[in-house]
Parts: sequence; C-alpha cells; structure tokens
Amino acid sequence: MATKARAILVLHGANLNLLGTREPEVYGRSSLAEVDRAIQRHAKSRRIRVECRQSNSEGQLIDWVQGADREGFGGIVMNPGAFTHYSIALRDAVSAIRVPVVEVHLSNVHGREEFRRHSVIAPAARGQISGFGATSYLLGIDALLGR
Ligand code: DQA
Repeated sequence: MATKARAILVLHGANLNLLGTREPEVYGRSSLAEVDRAIQRHAKSRRIRVECRQSNSEGQLIDWVQGADREGFGGIVMNPGAFTHYSIALRDAVSAIRVPVVEVHLSNVHGREEFRRHSVIAPAARGQISGFGATSYLLGIDALLGR
C-alpha cells in the first residue's frame, strides 16, 4: 500500500497524552513528546513529512480523519486508544475516506482483557499493528509507504 503523498498524519486518541506516567508497565515510560520525536526521526529517515496530533475527544479525531485528504495527507496512522473498542462514529469516518488508515497500538490488545480484543475500527482500516510499543507507529508508517 504505497501512499502517493509524502505526508502522513499520526493521530493519538484518548488518554495517550498521559504516556510515560499512565500504567508504565503496560504502555512504557516514554512520554507522548518522546514518542512523537521518535516518529519524527523515523519520518526524516524515510524522507517524508509526518504530523502528530493528540485528542481525548472523539469528535476532534473524526474531524481530523475527515479532513486528512483536504489537508494533503496520503495516509493516517491512528491509535484511537479506548475508542478502538466502541466508537462506531470513528469507524464510519475511517470507512468514509479514501485515505488509507493503519490502526496501531502500543500494547498487544489481543493478549489483554477480553474487551480490548475487539476493534470496531480495524475492519474499516487497511490493517492493525499491535504490541510493539512506540515501534508500532513506525511500522504503521512503513506499512503505508509499502515498505
Ligand atoms: C491502546 C490500547 C487500548 O485498549 C487502550 O484503551 C489505550 C491504548 C494501546 O495503544 O495499547 O488507550 O490503544
């Protein structure tokens, strides 16, 4: 799945602003700013532009997904946080756009509580990458680039 535009939008959903202090044994000790810096280093190595955004609001994430094409992004890497498991509205937004979306998770959602094993977003996304910590985002970018 090679994206045409050399610009990718990375979206972090609910509670990901708390990375570093939030359940570090599950989500690691890196802050969101540190994760975003690793993403930017990766983007530079791939010679693409990446923009990272975070919101705790479902509506804001939907607006960003809807606007991605208009803003010139050729792909989206999204960790929806808990919205993964129940936001039909966010899934509908992913279904509604042409821009490919890769769903990513820091933790291995399939090895955790039962309710985390189900993603309502994944069927509308191009694929899901889960369980590699911050590297999940980098793998998501590479998947969009067809690497
Ligand atoms: C998460 C997994 C979700 O189940 C959880 O609600 C999160 C983070 C992850 O990155 O592992 O907020 O998306």
